[in-house]
Amino acid sequence: MVVVPVISSKGGVGKTTVAANLATTLAARGRQVLAIDLDPQNALRFHLANDPRGCEEGLVAAASGQLPWTQAMRPAHGGVVLLPFGTVDDERQIGFEHDLSRHPGWLADTLARFGLPADMLVVVDTPPGPTVYLQQALRAADLSVIAVLADAGSFATLPIVERMVDKYCRSRADYRGSAYVINQVDPGQRLNHDVLAVLRARLQPELLGVLHLDVSVSEALASALPVQRYAPLSQAAEDVSVIADRLLARIAAPAPSPSSAHASPLRQETTR
Ligand SMILES: Nc1ncnc2c1ncn2[C@@H]1O[C@H](COP(=O)(O)OP(=O)(O)OP(=O)(O)O)[C@@H](O)[C@H]1O
Ligand SMILES: [Mg+2]
Repeated sequence: MVVVPVISSKGGVGKTTVAANLATTLAARGRQVLAIDLDPQNALRFHLANDPRGCEEGLVAAASGQLPWTQAMRPAHGGVVLLPFGTVDDERQIGFEHDLSRHPGWLADTLARFGLPADMLVVVDTPPGPTVYLQQALRAADLSVIAVLADAGSFATLPIVERMVDKYCRSRADYRGSAYVINQVDPGQRLNHDVLAVLRARLQPELLGVLHLDVSVSEALASALPVQRYAPLSQAAEDVSVIADRLLARIAAPAPSPSSAHASPLRQETTR
C-alpha cells in the first residue's frame, strides 16, 4: 500500500481536481486505487462517484461504527474505490476532529488494519492548510503531492505545508518525498509565466509536472467526470497523464536514503 495525500497551504488550488484525476488515471494504468476524501467538504464524490448523491454517509460514519467500512466504500469511475468523507453537521465534524486530535495515527492505523494489497495506491484528498486532517494524512503518507498555483500568494505560503511535511514525514526512512504539481498554468499570462519560472527552479527535482488552466477541467467537473474521460484529447488530460506516469516512476524508485530525504538546502534557503 502506497499512501499519497494531495495537500496544499492555500485553498482552491486544485487538490480535489488533482486527486480525482490522478486516481482515475492511475487506475487506467492498471493499478488498484482507493481514493479517500479526508475533507469535510465531501467534494471528491462530484469528480469520482458513480452516484454522488449516494455518498452522504462515508468515512465519519464508518469511523464511529455506524456503517461497515465495506459499505462506506463506493464504486467510482474507472474502477477506483471511493471512500467519501460523508456529509456531516458541525457538531459531528467537531467531535470527529476532536477524536482525530486524540489519536494522531488514526488514519495510518485504520489503513493498516484494512490489509490492503502491497501495490495498492491510496490517494487522499485533504482540506487546505494545517489541520488535523493534514496531520493524519501526513502521518500515513509515503509520498505527498503538493498542489500549488503559479502565483505570488501560493509561492509565499508554500512553506506552511512544507514545514508540516518536514515535521511529520521527512524523518521516516521509508518516506519517498514530496512531488509538486503546479496547477492552472496559463502561458499567455506574463506574470504567471514569470512565477512559473521561479517555481520550476525552486521545486526541482521534486516537480512532478504542470497542469494547464483548461476549461475542460471545470467542464469535466460539471459533467461529474474525470477530465480524461470528458475530454481525452485536452491539454489537461495530457498533463494529468504525464503527471501520473511520473508519480508511478517516483513510487517505483527505491526510497531515498534518510539523509537525502531531508529538506534540501535550496528549499531551506528559500523558505526562511
Ligand atoms: N487546471 C485547471 N483548469 C481549470 N480549472 C481548474 C483547474 N484546476 C482546478 N480548477 C477549478 O478550480 C476550482 C478549485 O479546484 P479544486 O476544488 O480542485 O481545489 P481545491 O484545492 O480542492 O479546493 P479546496 O481547498 O477548497 O479543497 C474548481 O472549480 C476546479 O474546477
Ligand atoms: Mg478540495
